[in-house]
Amino acid sequence: MIKIAIIGFGTVGQGVAEVLMEKRDYLRQIIGDYKVVAVADSKGSLIGDFDLLNAIKIKRERGLPEGMDAMEIVENQDFDLLIETTITNIETGEPGLSYIKKALKRGKNVITSNKGPLVVAYSELIELAKENNCKLLFEATVGGAMPVIKLVNNCLAGNKILSIKGILNGTCNYILSRMEKEKMPFEQILAEAQELKIAEADPSYDVDGIDAASKLVIVANALLGIDAKFEDVEITGIREITPEAFDVAMEKGYTIRLIAEAGSNGLKVSPRLIPLQHPLALQGTLNALLIKTDLAGDVVVVGKGAGKRETASAIVSDLIQLYG
Ligand SMILES: NC(=O)c1ccc[n+]([C@@H]2O[C@H](COP(=O)([O-])OP(=O)(O)OC[C@H]3O[C@@H](n4cnc5c(N)ncnc54)[C@H](OP(=O)(O)O)[C@@H]3O)[C@@H](O)[C@H]2O)c1
Repeated sequence: MIKIAIIGFGTVGQGVAEVLMEKRDYLRQIIGDYKVVAVADSKGSLIGDFDLLNAIKIKRERGLPEGMDAMEIVENQDFDLLIETTITNIETGEPGLSYIKKALKRGKNVITSNKGPLVVAYSELIELAKENNCKLLFEATVGGAMPVIKLVNNCLAGNKILSIKGILNGTCNYILSRMEKEKMPFEQILAEAQELKIAEADPSYDVDGIDAASKLVIVANALLGIDAKFEDVEITGIREITPEAFDVAMEKGYTIRLIAEAGSNGLKVSPRLIPLQHPLALQGTLNALLIKTDLAGDVVVVGKGAGKRETASAIVSDLIQLYG
C-alpha cells in the first residue's frame, strides 16, 4: 500500500486527489494499492483514515480543520510519497523547499508541481534524493501537461540535447496571439485576459518573463545538465510590444512570441520574431518546445501548460514512473 501525503490543497492538490479517486481501479492495476493518508494547506489538515472526497468538500465549504500543520506531517507522519503542491516562491523556494528537503531526508519519494524549490536548489535536492535512496520527480513544473522531462529523459535517451527553446508561458502567448490577430494594445488585451482569469491581478510574474525564466532554469538543469540559476537568465518581458511591431513583422512573414531558450549561448527569455508557419507560432494559451538533438533532429512538443486536470496528468505520470 503506497501511503500518500498531499501538501498544498488548492487547485492542483485537489485536482490530483480527484484523479486519484476517478482512476483508482486503473491505477491500482499499474502501481498497486494506494491511500491518501494526509492532506494539508496553509491553515489546517486531515490525517489518518479519512474520506478523500469528503476532504475536498470540507476544504471547499469551510476549510481544512486546524490540527497537525504541514511541516509536522512531513516530519512525523507515516507516508511513502509526498505530493508537494504549495505556492511558488522563486526567491526562497518556500514553503515547498523545506517540505521537500525534510521528506527526502526521511527517504520519502517526492513529486512536486512547484517550480520554486527547484529554481532555488535543483542540484542540492537531486543530491539529497540520491543520498537517501529516494526520488524527486517534477514533470508538472515545466509546461503543465505538456510532456517534457520524461520525453527527453526517456524517449530521447541516447541523444545529446543541443538546445531547447519554446513557449513556456500561456498567458503571454494568449496576449501576443491576440495582439497579432486584433492589433489592439498590450494593456487592453491584458485587461481582458485578467477579466477572463487568464492573467493574474498582478501580471508581472507572467508578462515580465519571470515564470518562463523559472521553467527555463529547470529545463537547463534537468535536461541540459547546466548548473543554472535564475540570475543566469537574460530576461525581457512583453510589456513594450506594440500592435505596430506586429504590422512590421507580419509584412515580412513573421509574428512575435515570448521565447525561452537554453543552449550553448546561455539562457534567454525574450520576445522573438517567429516565421508565421513555424511550429512555435502558436495561438492561445498553449505551451510548446522545440528540442534540438544530435540523433533525432528536431522534436516539437505542444500541450496545455496549466489547468487542474492537466497538471494532475503530469503528477500521475510521475506517480506511475515511481511505482509502475
Ligand atoms: N494551477 C496550475 O495550472 C499549475 C500548473 C503547473 C504548476 N502549478 C504549480 O503548482 C503549485 C500549486 O498551484 P495551485 O494552482 O494549486 O495553487 P493554489 O490553488 O494557490 O494552491 C496552493 C496551496 O498551497 C497551500 N499553501 C500555501 N502556503 C502553505 C504552507 N505554508 N504550507 C502548506 N500549504 C500551503 C495553500 O493553502 P490555502 O488553501 O490554505 O491557501 C493552497 O492550498 C504552485 O506552485 C503552482 O505554481 C500550478
